[in-house]
Amino acid sequence: MHHDIAGRAAELAVSVDATPRRVLDIGCGTGYLLRLLAARYPQAAELAGIDAAPSMIEAAHQAADDPRLRFTVGTAERLPYPDDAFDLVVSTTSFDHWADQLVGLRECARVLVPGGHLVLADQFSLLLVPTLLAGRRGKARTQRRAGRLLVAAGFEGLAWRNLYELIIKAVTATV
Ligand SMILES: C[S@@+](CC[C@H](N)C(=O)[O-])C[C@H]1O[C@@H](n2cnc3c(N)ncnc32)[C@H](O)[C@@H]1O
Repeated sequence: MHHDIAGRAAELAVSVDATPRRVLDIGCGTGYLLRLLAARYPQAAELAGIDAAPSMIEAAHQAADDPRLRFTVGTAERLPYPDDAFDLVVSTTSFDHWADQLVGLRECARVLVPGGHLVLADQFSLLLVPTLLAGRRGKARTQRRAGRLLVAAGFEGLAWRNLYELIIKAVTATV
């Protein structure tokens, strides 16, 4: 399932930006999506992945098959990159885990160049509203909630797409 989502997210990323120089994947896991993007973006200078789990970053290092891939342990809420460092930021099925989603999105906006693109894929559905009353209270698990956070973080031009099954959706936005 994660590989299908990554494949579709890669297609979407290419459709919004065909020639980014620098790409960041937040919550990159084992780096599968970045390896796909490295193949799709031969002109890119750097494809960076960050993940909160050291074991994921270790696995990503082991699987890295391209010298432009760089992996770092860290969190969305505190990205260790300067302002305007990336043309494209992607993230698949990680956003729901971020401790502070608004802070994480503000970090995405900060590290993107003006006009840069975000591709954010995760579970967003009204079917998940009951979960907001229980353990996932406060999480942006609907398009409406996530959209509000994206706009508050400085994003515009939001466009939603169904990515996988009923609840995995992707939003693209620019800063
Ligand atoms: C379900 S996995 C998805 C991994 C990969 N993106 C994929 O689609 O296969 C969620 C990942 O998000 C990472 N994660 C959780 N909270 C994070 C945060 N605040 N900042 C960065 N990564 C985070 C986890 O360590 C985990 O590797």
